Amino acid sequence: MDNINNYIETNKERFLNELSELLKIPSISADSKYESDVLNAASYVKESLDKAGCQITEIIETDGFPVVYGEITVNPNAPTVLVYGHYDVQPADPIELWSNPAFEPTIKKTSDHPEGAIYARGASDDKGQMFMHIKALEYLNRTKNLGCNVKFMIEGEEEIGSVNLYNFVEQHKEKLSNDIILISDTGMISNDLPSITTGLRGLSYVEVEVTGPNRDLHSGLYGGAVANPINILSKMISQLHDENNHITIPGFYDYVEIPTKDEREVMSTIPFDHKAYKTSIGINDTYGEEGFTTLERASVRPSLDVNGIWGGYIGEGAKTVIPSKAHAKISMRLVPNQDWKRITHIFKDYFESIAPKGIQVKVKPHHGGQGYVTPTNNIAYQAASRAYQNTFNKLPIPQRSGGSIPIVALFEEILESKSILMGFGLNSDAIHSPDEHFGIWNFCKGIETIVDFYYQYELLYGEN
Ligand code: BES
Ligand code: MN
Ligand code: MN
Repeated sequence: MDNINNYIETNKERFLNELSELLKIPSISADSKYESDVLNAASYVKESLDKAGCQITEIIETDGFPVVYGEITVNPNAPTVLVYGHYDVQPADPIELWSNPAFEPTIKKTSDHPEGAIYARGASDDKGQMFMHIKALEYLNRTKNLGCNVKFMIEGEEEIGSVNLYNFVEQHKEKLSNDIILISDTGMISNDLPSITTGLRGLSYVEVEVTGPNRDLHSGLYGGAVANPINILSKMISQLHDENNHITIPGFYDYVEIPTKDEREVMSTIPFDHKAYKTSIGINDTYGEEGFTTLERASVRPSLDVNGIWGGYIGEGAKTVIPSKAHAKISMRLVPNQDWKRITHIFKDYFESIAPKGIQVKVKPHHGGQGYVTPTNNIAYQAASRAYQNTFNKLPIPQRSGGSIPIVALFEEILESKSILMGFGLNSDAIHSPDEHFGIWNFCKGIETIVDFYYQYELLYGEN
């Protein structure tokens, strides 16, 4: 244990400089302006894997952005760990709200992070967390302590739904074969209370377009006599939840896995400071489905949210107009057993059915993915749990998260592998938001815990 801590202490500055170089690359997969930057980030990750000691590294083309692959084999009888992460990031918008430019990494100390945190888009999601794995490998390789075979698969389209990854994984089944998948792309409860993410929600993302008249109309001449697409869209959206905040789409809750009484009891023991939760995001009350706690609402229950809505005149001053069209982007977070394609389908049917006469509705599905639950009764989970106990001196709490990583369910389907989600981020890291950051303490603790995971997994694998 001492060794890795010395190694981190000695090399911390270099690690942070190397990470900063990666964070400077605006690898925004959603925006075609940044195409060459996304490719540069892939190259940078490949070089980092080379330097860390991978015997094979490749940039493998897909129909979208490439996958960076790396491999190191130490012993054909040892278990193989596949590390997954992503080098693409979300757009930095709204850029004017960043205290420092999103792609000029800055280290700052805060009360949450007395040891400092690195501020940049992707610091926590996922460049900083993915980089911990490269540095853990570097250490294990240089000190000849690596007892597992390791494969890396770092993709560049996670933030846009990993749409080309299904084919990629199908086509490279053999190459990606493994005993366990290890991912750091989630969070934990707090630095004093580690947790291992044991579930992810699925997702169905759709865009809707509501059309009324064939052109924008004078709201005085026509107002009151034609359906206004924005009024109608608002009304339709408001019909998607009932007075108890249940989602009204017929069949939406069919197959939803209901948490058992025991599961709910375990969840209720997870420390949760409702007041701190509210203050941290500046609200005076929480809001959600009747009959469930805040933690349940945001993890084991499905949800539906409008992510963006537009139409009509939004420029300066007033323009009296009934717009021809109104639009919205809507995401549904799903739980195990809800099939995202079926949900997309019933959403479309329902949304079309509630449109009044005089209005046309188009529903355009974007991407989606299945939810996932990791079992805790396997040796990889046990290894992870022991690693946290060794490095945090606390038993990590298994906790299901509300976020989504669509590829995790596909890994299980195609490769028949489970994923262990060892995330070291905090909810306060502001991922996808201005001033995203990752604690330097978390970065170092992550490396230390990942290193110990390999030791524990090798041990438990040998005993079984
Ligand atoms: N790393 C996040 C997902 C995440 C964050 C899960 C924290 C659990 C805790 C990932 O990069 C992400 O943002 N996923 C998207 C889904 C994707 C299809 C765009 C999401 O959850 O919105
Ligand atoms: Mn991520
Ligand atoms: Mn993300």
